[in-house]
Amino acid sequence: MADLSVRFCGVKSPNPFWLASAPPTDKAYNVVRAYKAGWGGVVWKTLGEDGPPIVNVSGPRYGAIHSQDRRVFGFNNIELITDRPLEVNLREIKEVKRDWPDRALIVSLMVPCTEESWKAILKRVEETEADGIELNFGCPHGMSERGMGAAVGQVPEYVEMVTRWCKQHSRMPVIVKLTPNISDIRKPAEAAKRGGADAVSLINTINSVMGVDLDTLTPWPSTDGMATHGGYCGPAVKPIAMNMVSEIARNPETHGLPISAIGGIETWKDAAEFMTLGAGTVQVCTAAMTYGFKIVQEMITGLSDWMDAKGYSSVDDFVGAAVPKLTDWQHLNLDYAVKAKIDQDLCIQCGRCHIACEDTSHQAIMKEKDGQRHFEVMEEECVGCNLCAVVCPVDQCITMEPLQAGAIDKRTGLPVGGHRTWLEHPNNPMARNPRGPAVLEPAE
Ligand SMILES: Cc1cc2nc3c(=O)[nH]c(=O)nc-3n(C[C@H](O)[C@H](O)[C@H](O)COP(=O)(O)O)c2cc1C
Ligand code: SF4
Ligand code: SF4
Repeated sequence: MADLSVRFCGVKSPNPFWLASAPPTDKAYNVVRAYKAGWGGVVWKTLGEDGPPIVNVSGPRYGAIHSQDRRVFGFNNIELITDRPLEVNLREIKEVKRDWPDRALIVSLMVPCTEESWKAILKRVEETEADGIELNFGCPHGMSERGMGAAVGQVPEYVEMVTRWCKQHSRMPVIVKLTPNISDIRKPAEAAKRGGADAVSLINTINSVMGVDLDTLTPWPSTDGMATHGGYCGPAVKPIAMNMVSEIARNPETHGLPISAIGGIETWKDAAEFMTLGAGTVQVCTAAMTYGFKIVQEMITGLSDWMDAKGYSSVDDFVGAAVPKLTDWQHLNLDYAVKAKIDQDLCIQCGRCHIACEDTSHQAIMKEKDGQRHFEVMEEECVGCNLCAVVCPVDQCITMEPLQAGAIDKRTGLPVGGHRTWLEHPNNPMARNPRGPAVLEPAE
């Protein structure tokens, strides 16, 4: 059986599956049951500085977007960091770490942006013998108005400064948790690295308003008739998180910086995808809140079976393996061509492909042949865009078939199978060494 254990910036974990800092990791009662279920590690719900307890709203703090089968697809919250006393959390963290030495236990922190505040809390966390800290520079609501969370994470200079303080005043590995509410995720990641971060984790939640009640004209979730933006997460955010993770993995400035990926992970497949894009561990929140701690068991067996089938003996065999296959648009091969193909045996003649292609794509699907209802792709019009396959309700009914090297694309009249990117394409006025025939204007 494949070895799922990981060593993430020095922290050992029996598997790469961690619970993200959130309600599932709010107290020893939860964390112990999570460990029993099989989670390799947890990031404890964010601790703040000592003082009057955090006050949350006492109304709906969560909202969700469901798919038609009531699956929670997108999730949103307006909750703050832990509202339990610091002393209690620290005592529980120490006990849990003592009782579960083989599991990773990271403590998430968010205190005011002064060196003294950070120094004070670091000392107290260090005494718990937790494995490391995660700096919450991501919380998009409530705490950011108080100059913490995303208010720090959106300013690379602050990210670097606070990270440096933490490295100076602590022996623990420092993971910097990044906010996605920023135009270029590479900048705070670079800043974290400059500050000495041992790793970054991402994404925290995305600023969001979930909807508006059209009877009361109030956005939701609402509190006593008023609403505020919250943080969006769950399966809907996975593509955004994957892009951000891969941007950091690809960036020469941060390449090799350990990444703990977060955002919409529900299954072992989601986890494996993030890991091929450079993540050394993955963190889960919404899926645990929706389905409970035991989902980790399917994650462990699924990842293990896949690794066995692929011949991977350890996670290092595939972490980052997909990163070299991501590039900028200008490096894609413009001489490669596919055409849609409809399997007539599977087609139920619903007509959705025709409508989509006819109204919004390239009018490449006929709806009638010999006076009969019939859906077939006209190769000479098809640009291979994939829209028909996306909208077809029957799995594998429409497939995208590559044209063989040397074949003539009936749409352009040009041979396929070459390899020209935009950089050498004759249609590019800026091309330094244009090669081969140009693509002519499409006919009106
Ligand atoms: C209810 C709730 C509370 C959260 N609280 C925290 C928090 O205290 N600290 C933190 O760093 N992230 C917090 N998060 C963000 C999660 O750790 C995670 O980054 C985000 O939910 C994306 O992961 P997911 O798609 O698996 O939910 C919270 C998320 C939710 C849903
Ligand atoms: S791939 Fe695009 S252009 Fe071709 S048939 Fe499908 S929708 Fe039309
Ligand atoms: S969408 Fe799919 S099933 Fe419907 S007509 Fe087109 S090919 Fe057939």
